[in-house]
Amino acid sequence: MARLGGRVAIVTGGAQGIGAHYAKGLAAEGAKVAVADILDPTPVVNSIRQQGGEAIGIVADMTKTASVEAMVAKTVGAFGKLDILVNNAAIFGKLERKPQSEIDNAEWDRVIDVNVTGPWRCVRAAVPEMKKNGYGKIINIASTTVWKGVPLLLHYVTSKGAVEAFTRSLAREVGEFNICVNAIGPGLTMSENVLAQGDSVKMNREWALRGRSFKREQVPEDLVGAVLFLASPDSDFMTGQTIMIDGGEIMH
Ligand SMILES: NC(=O)c1ccc[n+]([C@@H]2O[C@H](COP(=O)([O-])OP(=O)(O)OC[C@H]3O[C@@H](n4cnc5c(N)ncnc54)[C@H](O)[C@@H]3O)[C@@H](O)[C@H]2O)c1
Repeated sequence: MARLGGRVAIVTGGAQGIGAHYAKGLAAEGAKVAVADILDPTPVVNSIRQQGGEAIGIVADMTKTASVEAMVAKTVGAFGKLDILVNNAAIFGKLERKPQSEIDNAEWDRVIDVNVTGPWRCVRAAVPEMKKNGYGKIINIASTTVWKGVPLLLHYVTSKGAVEAFTRSLAREVGEFNICVNAIGPGLTMSENVLAQGDSVKMNREWALRGRSFKREQVPEDLVGAVLFLASPDSDFMTGQTIMIDGGEIMH
């Protein structure tokens, strides 16, 4: 049997970018996957189905509690339960690099709302379903920017620092229900939207390459294995952790 046969997963922000790779990877391991995004997830769903996997697409907005609750309800309605939640949706790829003095309140609030409050809304809706089965895997997507102190993205880096803190505290609260809560911290990864940033991320790409043990750029495929591990029984006694996947740049 495939490693995740019989499991049901939600991947937020799965319509494109790195999230689409997580969704396809989970489906390839046998999970039934709800691909959720503010964008249309149909192309990713079709791609999974063409490969013989099971998936549904859900248009959902992580800033709206009712939309997030509907996402979980639709997943359970389609597949009967929920085992795995990948909190991947975020404001990142299209975020303009700028000094902190040029970030206005609305932009700051939007980044925190999607990147921090979004995962909490998802957790609040998902945990009751996981408790019903006495099993769950929550995988949050943090970032190595937290450890590097990357400039010109103060709202984003702050939000991902919060995701790490959220991971630890939540792990303490839901361990008694056999729900694992872990995070991964990706290094700068060549998703579609990062590549589209062109010269504005040139310095960051050079900085990452210099600091890495493996002297090549990071691609979305580099992250999928760790998410599958955290979604699988192989990590059932592991919680509250953040795994850095960045070609050996941050070491702790
Ligand atoms: N690419 C990198 O270098 C890198 C590095 C570290 C961490 N990350 C994290 O990995 C994840 C994916 O990165 P990416 O490069 O694919 O980013 P991306 O910006 O291309 O993708 C984010 C996805 O989230 C969705 N989204 C945004 N707001 C939403 C909302 N309100 N409701 C629902 N969905 C929403 C977007 O539509 C998009 O599909 C993000 O959490 C990002 O912060 C990326």
